[in-house]
Amino acid sequence: MADGTKDTKSSNQMWGGRFASGPDAIMEEINASIGFDKKLFAQDIRGSIAHATMLAHQGIISAEDKDKIVHGLSTILSEIESGNFAFSRQLEDIHMNIEARLAALIGQAAGRLHTARSRNDQVALDFRLWVKEELHKTEAMLTNLIAAFLDRAEEHAESVMPGFTHLQTAQPVTFGHHCMAYVEMFGRDRSRVRHAIEHLDESPIGAAALAGTGYPIDRHMTAKALGFREPTRNSIDTVSDRDFAIEFLSIAAICGMHLSRLAEEIVIWSTPQFGFVRLSDAFSTGSSIMPQKKNPDAAELVRAKTGRINGSLIALLTIMKGLPLAYSKDMQEDKEQVFDAAESLELAIAAMTGMVRDMTVNTERMKAAAGSGYSTATDLADWLVREAGLPFRDAHHVTGRAVALAESKGCDLAELPLADLQAINPAITGKVYDVLTVEASVASRKSFGGTAPSEVRKQIAFWRARN
Ligand code: ARG
Repeated sequence: MADGTKDTKSSNQMWGGRFASGPDAIMEEINASIGFDKKLFAQDIRGSIAHATMLAHQGIISAEDKDKIVHGLSTILSEIESGNFAFSRQLEDIHMNIEARLAALIGQAAGRLHTARSRNDQVALDFRLWVKEELHKTEAMLTNLIAAFLDRAEEHAESVMPGFTHLQTAQPVTFGHHCMAYVEMFGRDRSRVRHAIEHLDESPIGAAALAGTGYPIDRHMTAKALGFREPTRNSIDTVSDRDFAIEFLSIAAICGMHLSRLAEEIVIWSTPQFGFVRLSDAFSTGSSIMPQKKNPDAAELVRAKTGRINGSLIALLTIMKGLPLAYSKDMQEDKEQVFDAAESLELAIAAMTGMVRDMTVNTERMKAAAGSGYSTATDLADWLVREAGLPFRDAHHVTGRAVALAESKGCDLAELPLADLQAINPAITGKVYDVLTVEASVASRKSFGGTAPSEVRKQIAFWRARN
C-alpha cells in the first residue's frame, strides 16, 4: 500500500504478513487447490487431532489448548459433513481453510496447532491416508468382482466355447476356464493393491517442512494413532515423494487394462454375429433411431475410462520427474489425477461386476461356434501321435490335409467319412471320431491349469478358499 502498511484484509491470513497486497485474481486461480483438495477434509482433521494430542502429551502445548483444538476440529468436521462450511479460495487449500475456521471458533489456541508441523508433511499425511483408504476400497471391490467370476465359472465349468488366438478360433475351451483367466488377473491386481498398502503404511507427520523439528515430538505416537505401521524414516523423502500415489495409479492402470480387455470381449461377444452373451438391460442402452439395437455402453465406457486412468498415470509421472528435492508446488497437481483415476476405477470395477453377474450366457451359440473353424484339428494330430505313433510334425501335416479336404467339402472334421481320412493316412481308425467332438477335446486337456472341467473345478476351489 502507498503508505507502506499491509493490507491484511486481502492478503492471505496465514502467510500474508510479508505481502503488501493480496494475490491478484490469476495468482489466486493458479495457486488455490481448495476446489479439489477439500476432499481431504476428514483426513486433515484426523491428522490434526492426532498431532495436537501428541503435542499435549509431549508437553509442547497445554492440555487445555489441546482440548479446545480437538473440540473445534470436531465442530468443523460436522460443519463440513453437513454442508455448512464456507470454503474460501483466498485461503488456498483445505489445510488453511480448516485452520482459519478453527481460529474463528476457538481463538488464539488455534495458532498452536501448527507447532512442529508444516503444510508439507500435513499434505503428505492427508493424501497418504486418502490413498490408503482408496486402496482398501479397491481391494474389497476386486474381491467382489472375483466372486462374481467364480460363480459364473462354477456355473459354466462344462460349457464349451471357442478359445481364440489372433481372434481366430484356436481350440475349444470352457467358458468357466475363460472366466477363471480373469480371476487370475484380478487376483494379481488385488495382490498389487495389498503390496501398495504395505509400502505406504508409514506416517509422514512430523517430517515438518523437510528437516524434521527441534520440538520433542513423538512420531511413533502419531503413527500409531493414525493407524500406520511406523513413522517414515527420512524427513526429506517424506515431503518429496509421491510414489505412493504413482503406485496407486500404476495399479489402477494395470487393473484398468484388464477391465478394458474384458470390456472389449463383452462388446464382441454381445454382437448379434457372436451372440455368446446378452447383457442385462441394466448395463446396455437402446438406440434412439434403430429400435433393434442393444448397445453395450457400460462396457464401452469401461474401455474408455482405462484411457483416462493411463493419462493420469503419465501426468503424475511427468509432474514428478523433474523435481529437485524436497517439496515443490508442482506436487499440488497430484491430487486431481488420483481422484479422477480412483473414481474411474471404482466405476469400472462396479460396472464390470454387475455385467458379469447379470449377463445371460448363450451356451448353444458358444458350443456351435466352438465346433466350427476346425477347432479340434490339434486333437486329431494328438490322436495320430498317441494312437498311430506318428511324430508330431507328420501328424500336423496329415491333419492339415484333412482340414483342407473338409474345407473343400464344406464340412467339419467329424463329418469326413472314415474312408476319406484313411485315404490321407491308413493308420486312422473309427476311434478317431471320439476325439473330434468339442466335449472330448476339452475333457482331454487335464494338464495342470488346463481347460478340462475337472481342472477348472480344482482352480475354482483354490480361489474360493482364498477369496
Ligand atoms: N496445497 C498444497 C499441496 O497440495 C499444500 C502444501 C503446500 N506447501 C507449501 N509449502 N506451499 O501441495
